[in-house]
Amino acid sequence: MPSSVTELQSGRAMGHSTIPGPILLLGAPGVGKGTQAKELVKLWGIPQISTGDLLRFHKANGTPLGLIAKELMDRGELVHDDLVNEMVAERLAQPDTARGYILDGFPRTLKQADWLDARLDAKLAGRPSTQPQSLPVVAVSLKVDYNQLLRRITGRRNCPVCGTIYNIYVKPPKVEGVCDLEGAALVQRADDTEEVFAERMKSYAALTEPVVDHYRSQGRFAEVDGDQPIEVVSAGIIAAVERLRAK
Ligand code: AP5
Ligand code: MG
Repeated sequence: MPSSVTELQSGRAMGHSTIPGPILLLGAPGVGKGTQAKELVKLWGIPQISTGDLLRFHKANGTPLGLIAKELMDRGELVHDDLVNEMVAERLAQPDTARGYILDGFPRTLKQADWLDARLDAKLAGRPSTQPQSLPVVAVSLKVDYNQLLRRITGRRNCPVCGTIYNIYVKPPKVEGVCDLEGAALVQRADDTEEVFAERMKSYAALTEPVVDHYRSQGRFAEVDGDQPIEVVSAGIIAAVERLRAK
């Protein structure tokens, strides 16, 4: 198995021959979904659809959805399924999703998973199986232990301009507090406190772990150890997607 994205890209170039289709990145807060989604975007040229990022965009712009989402997100609770599903439906209708997409942080409840499954089933009906639109979803769940997650969450900093994700402990910017790419002052998310993290973990255990089990039972599922260097985790995800796509 290749040990890094670089090796994959320069070697057998497996990543380029794959039609990615719909990919779900699942896992607890801080496990590395956003970090990994950005690597996969570079490799496969398909969009990252992060429901957390979309909701933060609504929040920042004070939309009606943003106003509802703000209170829930700041408490570490999930936003209502119907609102999130509608937001995802709008995003999936964009033409850049035709070859596939990476859903980062969605679905997060069984109701969201049922909605997505039904939507994909309806899309598959009557299409030849070689079309990207007719590929079934593959789900990859990342695993990292609680204390490591807490350290990642409290150490995270984001660029408000380009969205690059840093970490003061393991992935610091070259100049403290400043984005390497944009020169913008880095920000900390409002929900990246120890207290809100604990609430987010409770929501995860109660509502999202059943979603992981749902996809595990469907077969096209892999679990990857997220407590490894970023490149090694990426290689693990890519290898898993390749394997599941070849099934
Ligand atoms: P969301 O934004 O999705 O937050 P989350 O699931 O809690 O996940 P995070 O974004 O915190 O972590 P991540 O896994 O992306 O990790 P990252 O790559 O940044 O959701 C926020 C809120 O929005 C929810 O609480 C909810 O209220 C609402 N919401 C969102 N989706 C919803 C839905 N579907 N339904 C209802 N409500 C919804 O990495 C974290 C840190 O670790 C970074 O500093 C990074 O540099 C570092 N790191 C990454 N990988 C590694 C590595 N391999 N080694 C060391 N450090 C690493
Ligand atoms: Mg994220």
